[in-house]
Amino acid sequence: MSIDPAIAADPVQHAPVRVPEHLGVIMDGNGRWAIARGKRRTEGHIEGVKALRNLVELCINYGVKHLTVFSFSSENWTRPREEVAFIFNLLRRFVASDLQRLIRNNVKVRIIGTREGLEPSLVRVIDDVEAKTAGNTGLVLVVAFNYGAKAEIAEATRRIAREVAAGRLSADDICEATIDAALYTAGLPDPDLIIRTSGEQRISNFLLWQAAYAEFVFVDEHWPDFDESSFVRVLETFSRRDRRFGGIGTAQK
Ligand code: IPE
Ligand code: IPE
Ligand code: MG
Repeated sequence: MSIDPAIAADPVQHAPVRVPEHLGVIMDGNGRWAIARGKRRTEGHIEGVKALRNLVELCINYGVKHLTVFSFSSENWTRPREEVAFIFNLLRRFVASDLQRLIRNNVKVRIIGTREGLEPSLVRVIDDVEAKTAGNTGLVLVVAFNYGAKAEIAEATRRIAREVAAGRLSADDICEATIDAALYTAGLPDPDLIIRTSGEQRISNFLLWQAAYAEFVFVDEHWPDFDESSFVRVLETFSRRDRRFGGIGTAQK
């Protein structure tokens, strides 16, 4: 008998849980985590990186194949300049401190979002981490950085329109797969599960197209507090969901 790879034995409670092939995470609540402890918001972002490092390991251990994390949105530019600069520096520091570990763990990194507005030195860091992990075959870690789903769809539309204008594509041939292939996430399966921390229940411009049939789980803890027990609880919730995709579902067959 073969073992369903989507069912992993949970190392903590030994209960079988269904594991999403593609997990999306809106890592929210760093600022509030810090303020609640009398610290500066930036300290929350530092703790948030630790929670991300831990999540990458959990995904490897539980067999998640693709992990997409929302780390800076196109709307986050409206924050104080110092906070934006701090978050940008954190990305540099994360790459510097974690690149070797990511390579060792066979993680392939992809950074999605627009490179517009980013300093050339930061773009080099992004290109470098993608290039150095391009040959890896394990977990695909997609970092949505300077990312907005509406901007992504607009960019995809421009790309497709240029193909039509150049006579390489007929307007009548544009289908869902054409749009899938023009998005930053081309080649990735759609997310099965999207988690948002910190109690907010909104999508905030994350993967709008790709989330068409994702299950959403909202948890109250702030991102820096998201640990293995939170992860397992979310997987248990996900395991109980009946994903119907417009059909009638397993319980009624
Ligand atoms: C998420 O935490 C990280 C980013 C959006 C960069 P926040 O910084 O949004 O924290 P809260 O939501 O203000 O607490
Ligand atoms: C979403 O969080 C973006 C990231 C987690 C990077 P925000 O904190 O920016 O979202 P809103 O403003 O509460 O909707
Ligand atoms: Mg927030």
